[in-house]
Amino acid sequence: AARTAVVAAMHQELAAVLALMPDEQRESVGGRDFYVGELHGQPVVVVLSRVGKVAAATTAATLVHRFGVGRILFTGVAGGLAPGVKVGDVVVADSFVQHDMDASPIFPRYEVPLYGMSRFPTDPGLSEQLSLAAFRALPGVAVHRGLVASGDRFVSTTAESRALQLALPQALAVEMEGAAIAQVCHDHGVPFAAVRTISDRADDEAHGDFLSFIRDVASRHSAAIVREFFEG
Ligand code: ADE
Repeated sequence: AARTAVVAAMHQELAAVLALMPDEQRESVGGRDFYVGELHGQPVVVVLSRVGKVAAATTAATLVHRFGVGRILFTGVAGGLAPGVKVGDVVVADSFVQHDMDASPIFPRYEVPLYGMSRFPTDPGLSEQLSLAAFRALPGVAVHRGLVASGDRFVSTTAESRALQLALPQALAVEMEGAAIAQVCHDHGVPFAAVRTISDRADDEAHGDFLSFIRDVASRHSAAIVREFFEG
């Protein structure tokens, strides 16, 4: 079977996943550490992309070119946007939009120029598997499916969060990497799925909520979902 990539932006989101790997080999490429090994007997490569669209896109391209991965899973945290998406909930992305992409008036707002697309879908089968894994791993936790917005901004004011909700009413959550990986996976025909635990509401309290969630909960949730994905 082709190797599966497991990606997160920050160490806290992946520490517990790395702890599940028995004897991984570390390889450094382009300033990233790639951990090649197995999860539940399946070949994986685990990597921290770092934060933001450029870091995520270059990491995804390396996973495709250097490691020949057959699919990419992203795990981490996001800010909740839609009213029902609360701290501790889980969001599995059906598609991604870059909320900071704006080449208007040459191209429509949000459209990625020369792609004719503003939304990049995730793989439906893989996303379904990831949702089921989240349901099983975190009983009683709400799992939402839908649009996720990515951009190179940590959204940390209620005013900016409201503006995003008005501009993209379907967006469930906001983060900083998913749309970039979705675009690279689209380019290469590699199936992609992403799961995010909500760490904050992208509002005036986002900063403190994010820091405490990333410290206490993020890694456990990510590891529980990833483990269930491979074992289930
Ligand atoms: N990831 C987690 N919370 C976020 C926020 N409020 N904005 C952007 N990315 C995030």
